[in-house]
Amino acid sequence: MKVSPQIEQLLNAQINTELYSANVYLTMAAWFYNRDLDGFGNFFLVQMQEEQFHAMKYFRYLHDVEGTFRLETIPTPEQQHASIVEVFQKALKNEEEVTRSTHHLIDMSLQVKDFATYQFLEWFVREQVEEEATMRNILAKLELIGDDKSGLFLLDRELGQRSFEGEAD
Ligand SMILES: [Fe+2]
Ligand SMILES: [Fe+2]
Repeated sequence: MKVSPQIEQLLNAQINTELYSANVYLTMAAWFYNRDLDGFGNFFLVQMQEEQFHAMKYFRYLHDVEGTFRLETIPTPEQQHASIVEVFQKALKNEEEVTRSTHHLIDMSLQVKDFATYQFLEWFVREQVEEEATMRNILAKLELIGDDKSGLFLLDRELGQRSFEGEAD
């Protein structure tokens, strides 16, 4: 089965968006390592792996439907952040944008009756719910912690436990 040029272009755009997201989280990881918050740094390195995993999932699908991958210039993410809360606000905003582009892709796949792509994208619909929830949950914890240094220390330790599971697909 060969994908339509329109969906092929959108799948490529989505791969590039996922690679951009990976770079966003890599730079956020660096921001935390520079402040000796290694647990937060670890959290964002795992998040980067998640995004690379998403990109590869699209990459494989694109080839399954006889599409061609085209790598675009990936913009450099913003690397200055005023606070820990601001980092997570930006991460949440990034996920919300990824959700929007994922939903647009689903919308277009239905419009052109590309049911294979529509079904492939179901996994990403659930994944984006989780991705947004993860960022919102940590933002809520940071609000509870406020200026409490011991709370921040404990959260850093908790986030240091995160590891990439590499979900089966
Ligand atoms: Fe992603
Ligand atoms: Fe994500």
